Amino acid sequence: MSVSDDRPSGFDAVPGYLDWAAFGPLSTAARDALVRDADLLSTGRGADIAAVAARAEQAQQGLGALLDAVPDEIPLHPSSTHALQQALAGLGGTVLASAAEFPSVTITLDRAAEAAAGSLVPRWISPRGARVTPDAVAGALDETVTALVVSHVDFRTGYRTDLAALREVLGPDRLLIVDAVQSFGVVDEDWAAADVVVGHGYKWMRAGRGTGFARFTARARERIRPVLSGRIGTSAAGLPTDALPDPAASSQAYAVSAPDPLAASRLAAATSEIRALGVPAVAAALGEAVDRVLDIADRRSIAVSSPRARPERAGIVVLAVADAVRCGEALADAGLRVTVRSGAVRVSPHASTPSETFARLADALDRAAEFTGS
Ligand SMILES: Cc1ncc(COP(=O)(O)O)c(C=O)c1O
Repeated sequence: MSVSDDRPSGFDAVPGYLDWAAFGPLSTAARDALVRDADLLSTGRGADIAAVAARAEQAQQGLGALLDAVPDEIPLHPSSTHALQQALAGLGGTVLASAAEFPSVTITLDRAAEAAAGSLVPRWISPRGARVTPDAVAGALDETVTALVVSHVDFRTGYRTDLAALREVLGPDRLLIVDAVQSFGVVDEDWAAADVVVGHGYKWMRAGRGTGFARFTARARERIRPVLSGRIGTSAAGLPTDALPDPAASSQAYAVSAPDPLAASRLAAATSEIRALGVPAVAAALGEAVDRVLDIADRRSIAVSSPRARPERAGIVVLAVADAVRCGEALADAGLRVTVRSGAVRVSPHASTPSETFARLADALDRAAEFTGS
């Protein structure tokens, strides 16, 4: 099945939009859910408010189905960085991460180590091409290492790491903490390899901001102290007033306060939509879309620095052009939206990207030949 050709209603295609790794325009389902629930929240009726409050549980169920996890293991957060704070602040020992990771990893780990005053020490690695391969991790391990934090798909290089192989290298006693922002919902992955998965709904899921989440397995709960546990993450039933109850026994210990129900509503709608399409179908269609971008680049002899093999990539193609800024301007003039960063042009289509957009890209790159270096 190609989602591009056989697009169900609501799986919008935005002509010229090739920037899903930065932001995903809202899907019709997410937008409709938002409007519907905003209306319900304005009535002031108890039943309506309760109906919208229930969206958090629906979002957890939808995420649970995609992660093959129980909803209770999935706290909701305003962003994936908030979710990552919960994981990193409660760790001890040496924690591995690439120095080239997205700042959600680097800054959060650095700040957690600062707060831990010696009991948590980052070990920054700089693997070749910023690819956190099993070999790169194996070379940095010693008995002090307690965890690896890694992006499943790197935001800059587009490299998709092999979670099962990382799990094997780490062994059963170290934690694998995965930032799945650039793959969740569009890569058919066995998330069981990871102890913690964090993500959000505002790129590939098309659910908008405010839709962060995490999944903490039982193993993660044994090793990560819920030091940032908030008022809804306690063992008390209801509001813990005049008492200081322990953190909850479940992964809800890594939650802080009541989630935004309108964000949960969008996330619940987005997860149902992806489940209805099926992640394998979405992943296959995205694979085809990426192939089309690679073909466009190859036909023009434009250098590509992102991985080509399907198991090593998701939705990001990096064009290593001669003048990224001027090339990006030319693409923008042609009505194409991409990201220009680190001297390269990042092109990220979705499963639903229409043929017209690929044709526009090909045409614009022809006209920008003096900047592409082809
Ligand atoms: C790999 C990765 N992690 C985290 C984030 C930031 O996520 P959030 O805004 O939910 O904290 C991004 C945003 O681009 C990203 O690419």
